Amino acid sequence: MNTAILTTEYNDIQTAADILKNGGLVAFPTETVYGLGGNALSPESSNKIYAAKGRPSDNPLIVHIADTASVYEIAANVPDTAKLLMEAFWPGPLTIILPKKDVVPDETTGGLKTVAIRMPSHPAALDLIRESGVLIAAPSANTSGRPSPTTADHVIEDMNGRIDAIIDGGPVGIGIESTIVDLTEEIPTILRPGFVTKKMLEAVIGEVSIDRTLIEPDPNIRPKAPGMKYTHYAPSGELTIVEYKESNNSEQMDKISADQHDTDKMVADKINELLQEGTSQGKKVVILSPEEHAGLYPKDSVITVGSMGEGVTVAARLYAALRECDKIGSELIYSESLNLSELGGAIMNRLLKAAGHRVIYVSSES
Ligand code: TXA
Ligand code: MG
Repeated sequence: MNTAILTTEYNDIQTAADILKNGGLVAFPTETVYGLGGNALSPESSNKIYAAKGRPSDNPLIVHIADTASVYEIAANVPDTAKLLMEAFWPGPLTIILPKKDVVPDETTGGLKTVAIRMPSHPAALDLIRESGVLIAAPSANTSGRPSPTTADHVIEDMNGRIDAIIDGGPVGIGIESTIVDLTEEIPTILRPGFVTKKMLEAVIGEVSIDRTLIEPDPNIRPKAPGMKYTHYAPSGELTIVEYKESNNSEQMDKISADQHDTDKMVADKINELLQEGTSQGKKVVILSPEEHAGLYPKDSVITVGSMGEGVTVAARLYAALRECDKIGSELIYSESLNLSELGGAIMNRLLKAAGHRVIYVSSES
């Protein structure tokens, strides 16, 4: 299949809209990550999406809409919490889960009786939905298991020849996928953390809980969002997080936590030791570090992931950095922990998945 590369100009959006109307697949930019779109109400289109991604068909898709009226076409029940969240956060990086109507095929929802709905804020995404008159089912436009695409080039890497067209809207703004909140539970529950935080949700609808598999990940417990399984977003090389952990010895703890520089240096020393060890075994080793710490490592071994002081820059860079690791053929990747004050939860959720939850702790005793 020849994949057309389109722009966000009117004529190209028309071309893409026609492809969707005719049952084809188009990748398009959203404010979070690029999506791989097809007609959400067509079982054939949803099956094509699974095939193009190489994704198991029991992992449901998000339906993208451009008008709140569409919610009432596809959801069997729209509680007040949904209305409040739609009002507060749409268009934007929030996906809500509601009971589905029969018009939504089981293929789109992976057999579930609920449907995930989101109104993206990216103008090209909204134009595409409006011009096509189609509600667009769209997972992230990566091959299943790879990091989500944040540029059109990432989509081309994974999808060229597998889909009809890719709309190039430049790099996305946010860089990690939308927050997902399940409104079919008695207490609204976050199934995937994202740019819209628990605090922001609670300010609008009161108590919100977090799916327990996000807090205590366990390969034997199935998360409520089937896509949030244990490993995901993974680069080809083996990624390990190296993190400082306060020692149980409180006397030492006081001494250490008094000086952030000491703990940063302990982590860097460990990572540099692992770098040497890997290199001496003939392995290609790469280090992921925030810009502020790049100087602690050999220059030719570091890939930076944004600034610690600005979580949004780390979110925007994370997936591109993981793809760069693949591109240079890294076999071992060591990353500093990126548990920042801003977006830290959402970023660490992705980083831990990419690392298959491999973490090495350093403490003042080690
Ligand atoms: O930001 C985003 O949400 C991006 C852009 C393209 O909109 N989309 C995205 O889609 O991340 P995807 O398919 O990569 O992730 C959707 C997640 C999966 O973890 C899936 O299991 C979950 O949403 N999901 C979808 N429908 C669900 C449902 N009815 N119940 C529970 N989880 C659901
Ligand atoms: Mg995805």
